[in-house]
Amino acid sequence: MKNILVTGGAGFIGSAFVRHMVQTYPHYTIVVFDKLTYAGNLDNLLPVHDEPNYRFVRGDIADAQAVRRALEEYQIDAIVNFAAESHVDRSIMNSHAFLETDVIGVYVLLEQARQLGIKRFHQVSTDEVYGWIAEGAFKETDPLQPNNPYSAAKAGGEMMVRAYHVTHGMHTTVTRGSNTYGPYQYPEKMMSLFITEAIDDRPLPVYGDGKQVRDWLYVDDHARAIDLVLHVGAPGEVYNVGGENEHHNIDVTRRILRLLGKPESLIRFVADRPGHDRRYALDCTKIKALGWQRNDDFESLLAQTVAWYRQNEWWWRKIKTGEYLEYYKQQYAQRLAEAKSQ
Ligand code: NAD
Ligand code: TYD
Repeated sequence: MKNILVTGGAGFIGSAFVRHMVQTYPHYTIVVFDKLTYAGNLDNLLPVHDEPNYRFVRGDIADAQAVRRALEEYQIDAIVNFAAESHVDRSIMNSHAFLETDVIGVYVLLEQARQLGIKRFHQVSTDEVYGWIAEGAFKETDPLQPNNPYSAAKAGGEMMVRAYHVTHGMHTTVTRGSNTYGPYQYPEKMMSLFITEAIDDRPLPVYGDGKQVRDWLYVDDHARAIDLVLHVGAPGEVYNVGGENEHHNIDVTRRILRLLGKPESLIRFVADRPGHDRRYALDCTKIKALGWQRNDDFESLLAQTVAWYRQNEWWWRKIKTGEYLEYYKQQYAQRLAEAKSQ
């Protein structure tokens, strides 16, 4: 591998992967291909902007011509696909863009890759494709039972990846990552929303009873896992990537408040997300056998993450304007008006 196309590389996890790859493999050329939707942000790539092995192309993965141009121009030999509409709440409001990017977009990438004989295709997927599990942990062989339009679209994309492996013999790999946190996360997801809202002494809207369980994975651990699977993952295989770090949402919320020295009176219990998955948990035996290990110090990684948002207000304050405020109003205004304090 020499030239890698990282689609969605201007987003949260994609940009962490790009920063990691550009530094770790100076002999590779890392080409970011990103539509720059509301979630795409070139600020996330500032740390690598001047590196000689980094390139940026603006484009849509559902646009076959644009994809083909980039693949040919940079003589790409591997694609790592992060590009997606990624927020469950937005998929509940309107699912269209999720199908365009997370299903059709994946197909377009696969088909162009097939036509040009690209050697490797890695699909970044999510634990949400399994649905939720009351006890124990999902294995890669478990059935997919997605419950919301985002996870249904991601499952659709993933099934197309599987089909291109089985039918066309393409060397594909898939990772199913758990809830990821860290710097540069668009402040609509729980972790980055709650940290930035708490900094401003604003209410934190906890859905339902706050007893849902998420498995938190640090973003750099997620990026390293994808690097590993890209290099040594077996063709056609799927790998779970979990933090093995389960917490109730309400407990994470309280920890964030404690780290910021803010009162628990900021917590509001608001109307639940429809179709809200109760618990995610992954069995990570398979990726560990490849040599991957997560950093298990949640306490200090969360503290570092909170400190990053405190020190980088320049990054998130300019996001919280315009379209963001429209979305925020639509998602939270009524919920907060009807909320219960804790
Ligand atoms: P994000 O929303 O921060 O970034 C998505 C990126 O994709 C943005 O840069 C956006 O501009 C780009 N994009 C969207 N549509 C595009 C299109 N049609 N063509 C080209 N680029 C497009 O997402 P994220 O949280 O970094 O997630 C990245 C990937 O990881 C997604 O595939 C997501 O499903 C998966 N994932 C996320 C999590 C999580 O906790 N955030 C967990 C597991 C898996
Ligand atoms: P989120 O960050 O949207 O990730 P996902 O839906 O992929 O798990 O949500 C994480 C958890 O936090 C999930 O159980 C929903 C909950 N949540 C809230 O309680 N309030 C919020 O405002 C948001 C965005 C999420």
